[in-house]
Amino acid sequence: MLRNKTIVLGITGSIAAYKAAEIASQLTQAGAKVNVIMTEEAIQFISPVTFRAITGRPVVTEMFDLASEFSIEHVSLAEAADIVVVAPATANIIAKLAAGIADDMLCCTVLATKAPVVIAPAMETNMYNNPITQDNLAKLEAHDFVIIGPAMGWLASGKEGLGRLADIRDIIGNICQVLGRGGELAGRHIVVTAGGTQEPIDPVRYISNRSSGKMGYALAEGARDRGAKVTLVTAPTSLPEPVGVDVIQVGTAQEMRQAVENVTLRADALIMAAAVADYRPIKAAKDKIKKGKVGLTLELEGTPDILGTVKGNFIKVGFAAESSNLVENAKGKLKQKGLALIVANDITASDSGFGTDTNRVTIIDREGKIDSLPLLRKREVADKVLDRVAKLLPKPKSRRPNKI
Ligand code: CTP
Repeated sequence: MLRNKTIVLGITGSIAAYKAAEIASQLTQAGAKVNVIMTEEAIQFISPVTFRAITGRPVVTEMFDLASEFSIEHVSLAEAADIVVVAPATANIIAKLAAGIADDMLCCTVLATKAPVVIAPAMETNMYNNPITQDNLAKLEAHDFVIIGPAMGWLASGKEGLGRLADIRDIIGNICQVLGRGGELAGRHIVVTAGGTQEPIDPVRYISNRSSGKMGYALAEGARDRGAKVTLVTAPTSLPEPVGVDVIQVGTAQEMRQAVENVTLRADALIMAAAVADYRPIKAAKDKIKKGKVGLTLELEGTPDILGTVKGNFIKVGFAAESSNLVENAKGKLKQKGLALIVANDITASDSGFGTDTNRVTIIDREGKIDSLPLLRKREVADKVLDRVAKLLPKPKSRRPNKI
């Protein structure tokens, strides 16, 4: 998503300016070209040298820099930008932008750009809550600026409150989402499931599987980055919730089925990456089962086949976790569950399947076309799946981008 994107990162005079180094670093590592503009106040907090080293690019700190590579700087920076991000943004820069003041390089660039602008405020709670700041932010929002945060937490004053710079994960996630607006899945609603369902045995124990949820989360983020509205129905995982995605947490197969039925009413596609438990105890014990002298027999019953039974006007994509006869078994599931595509993975390989960051999959479509992909990162697999999903979706009547 961020590869080859040109991002202007504006940094203003907040104690949170040091966090902008991490933002610049993550964007650069993801392949973006990051042009940093620092206000005079920002360089009191952190040196431009830091950003020069992190981004490998010149850092703009002055309105008129005769040695700069940019011709008329604010114009060329503004024109080249795919997105402008101001993080951290002080009350002062927010006020200046709301008033249309252009007395420094950052303001000039923001006013001159046609690219989307993301603002991540950071300031003391009272400054943030002040009606003047609130009015200024509302004005920027009305002009389509995307405001992220601020978050609650520890502030430079030593107090706790609202005003902390939003989490870096939040900022980067929002940047990806904004860059993806108007992408090939704009105006679409994609439902993704993830994780391994948990079927209770008693109040402390359950039956589950080794699913990490990584594949489903990568699909949710990938669909978001193509402009889709995404709902992620997830069984418990240790992963943080993806930014810019509606997340519904569920426990059991039955809860997942209910949630999927509810959210697919207006969906364009359902991608079931969840590892749904096939069996559950007939009755979960109300009290903790005590250790006995002899063994314990659990009586199990089948869970509902969500993908096989859910109905609606959307395309269905399944995953097939196989330890043998990969293609044959996957083809059987594709037919039996009425799928448009099935993504089969061999779970016996140590670098593919449950818990790993990579997957080696074979994608099979309804026409029987078999595409065996090499070992890829799960996000890359997600992108390959989404390429196909985008092609399979019927042409929409109107394509309005989803509002963020
Ligand atoms: N699936 C589902 N509901 C279930 C079981 C599976 O919706 N109760 C979905 C999975 O999310 C996946 C696809 O069906 O997209 C295939 O799942 P898999 O576990 O590979 O196959 P099963 O249908 O469970 O068959 P088997 O366990 O016999 O291989």
